[in-house]
Amino acid sequence: MADWSRGATPSQSDGLRAADRDLAEQSLNAVAHDLNASAAEPFSRLRGAEHGPALAAVGGRLRAAGLLMMQHVGFACRWPGLPPVAEATNCRAVGDCFAPALHGSLELSGARLRSAARGAVRRLCAAGADATLVALVAGIEASATFYPSVTTECISLGSNLQRLSEIGGGVRCSPLVDLGAHCSRSLFNMARMSAAALREFSIAMPGKVRAGEARADAVFVGAWGSRRIDILSGLLDAVVSSRPAPPPRRLRAAEVGVFQANTSVALMSRFPSLHMLLVDPYHLHTQTAPDDQLLEEFYVSPREVFDAAVNWTRPYRSRAAFMLQESVEASRWVEPGSLDLVFIDGDHRYESVARDMEAWWPALREGGALAGHDFVLTFPGVVRAATEFAVQHEIQLFIAPEVWFFVKAGAEAAPRGAAAGGWPPVTFRRAGNCYLA
Ligand SMILES: C[S@@+](CC[C@H](N)C(=O)[O-])C[C@H]1O[C@@H](n2cnc3c(N)ncnc32)[C@H](O)[C@@H]1O
Repeated sequence: MADWSRGATPSQSDGLRAADRDLAEQSLNAVAHDLNASAAEPFSRLRGAEHGPALAAVGGRLRAAGLLMMQHVGFACRWPGLPPVAEATNCRAVGDCFAPALHGSLELSGARLRSAARGAVRRLCAAGADATLVALVAGIEASATFYPSVTTECISLGSNLQRLSEIGGGVRCSPLVDLGAHCSRSLFNMARMSAAALREFSIAMPGKVRAGEARADAVFVGAWGSRRIDILSGLLDAVVSSRPAPPPRRLRAAEVGVFQANTSVALMSRFPSLHMLLVDPYHLHTQTAPDDQLLEEFYVSPREVFDAAVNWTRPYRSRAAFMLQESVEASRWVEPGSLDLVFIDGDHRYESVARDMEAWWPALREGGALAGHDFVLTFPGVVRAATEFAVQHEIQLFIAPEVWFFVKAGAEAAPRGAAAGGWPPVTFRRAGNCYLA
């Protein structure tokens, strides 16, 4: 097991000041503690769980990503005892080529994680694993596809590195060590957390439900890829094609939780007949995020984000209407049966997501889809609310990477599995509980 504190006396390297050294030493030793904990934790136990090897491969990649980052940061700051990192051996100062080398490390580990998760998804589908488990692994792949890395800390490191490379030589070591240490630590923690969570899911899901306990009828949809916008476009196409001819002149959708409106803008640019209701209270929200929040389940966008959203949606002014209102209040203004798609991505706490689903379901027309974001390990409230909604309404739960959705059955169809009978209305390959391209 790694012991980074061993022999960690300050090196004689150029550009490393005494204060930097102290900070660097503290940060790296603290991260070393997490590294050791993530090694000792659940990977070996995960191997014994159902589908263990496929899941352990993903957890192992997360941990390896943290280790690679730690190696790079330690080396950039001339930390003794660390193995050399090929791309960085000729760098002289932190701002020189270390920043690009660190960026390379983020991208390399992101790509490795992506391919491990993709492989695991295929293996799980082939083995007939529960769709929920497949989707959670696919969610890891999706974040590694969307961002240069998978944790907020590493994504923030990525954007700061850009700035450091622009500044050039002479940058002090400690900010880099801090950011890098946070990134490594977050990856070790995520590895530990995902290994534990995936193990629980793999034990709880496959046919081991006790009498009287209902299980969601879930299907994984991997056919539209991993990007949110591709998935929502695929879904909207499917919803349109399920409508009786002739095709509608106008498509209507709502996004609940808009932030800068990136998703709505991308959808409106792809679907010229799409009209969108953008629901987000922004700075007019009556709640603020609690200080002791552990997960990013609740977040309120400030005024500047609203300004950015207004600016961003300007080319689509005739098709986009903002409603600065909280989700449930906003849903009361919408005529029942009037929308083709609702995308829920606001308050991610369990009670709020469950409440939002109930509030917006009546707004959909028959054949329309209720979808939402963040069916991932880091938002357990979303996973729980989506699963329970399926059970309570006796409908099929569809899960694409990060995105859950339900299709509202027509009046003539029986409720349970009705959507599944004629849905998806395009031909996908079926493997186990998965629809693949
Ligand atoms: C994760 S961001 C949304 C991201 C956006 N959907 C996208 O795809 O880029 C969450 C947003 O939900 C908003 N929000 C928080 N509570 C809400 C509520 N009760 N109703 C509607 N929006 C809410 C926040 O202000 C924030 O802008």
